[in-house]
Amino acid sequence: MSQIRWLGHAAVEVLISGKRVVIDPLIKDNPLSPVKLNYLEGVSVVGVTHDHYDHLGDTVEILKMNNKAKLFATFDLEMYLVNQFKVPEAQLIPANVGGYVEHEGIRLALTKAVHSSEHSDPTGIVVSDGRTTIYHAGDTGLFEDMRLIGQVFQPDYALLPIGGRFTMDPKQAVIAVDMIKPRKGAIPIHFNTWDMIRVDPQEFVKGVKEKGYEAILLQPGQSIEL
Ligand code: NI
Ligand code: MN
Repeated sequence: MSQIRWLGHAAVEVLISGKRVVIDPLIKDNPLSPVKLNYLEGVSVVGVTHDHYDHLGDTVEILKMNNKAKLFATFDLEMYLVNQFKVPEAQLIPANVGGYVEHEGIRLALTKAVHSSEHSDPTGIVVSDGRTTIYHAGDTGLFEDMRLIGQVFQPDYALLPIGGRFTMDPKQAVIAVDMIKPRKGAIPIHFNTWDMIRVDPQEFVKGVKEKGYEAILLQPGQSIEL
């Protein structure tokens, strides 16, 4: 059974090939989070797209709750967390933007993202079992290389920020979908967590459908079977 569950904001849980991957786990300070932090106790991998607090979130605590959980991010960001918060090096999956990293039966990759961050560069994250592929764009503006990300990883699902101001807005995210060409659906994230990123997700849903793609609007806590 494979599943994507939106935990509000950019926090996404992916169940794939018997592994639980959580990306950008902002739980405690996430007004949309449907779960408490202990829900993430058994995760296999914590992916972090960049170190802004709304993405790094509760990463360090999750890694400390469970020493079997591994961290997936740029190696520079990982080493920052090792040095700053004493995350054990044994919990790292070293990586940078590039090809797939095989990890216990799943594949993980980092992609370019156009944004900023304090330590290391911002990224997107791809998770795949070789059959189903999910692209989480992280925080990003619209950029032409999304076309390349679509071509290289051929994602079934694309999770895209639509909140505007710090990332793409719904209109730009529709253009992103048209470049990425997700085979099964585009899922909006990073909106309506706070007033500063309040938008109407229906604008995205409508635009995506007009381009001939599937749009999947989840509520926080809601999941889809893949
Ligand atoms: Ni950010
Ligand atoms: Mn953000």
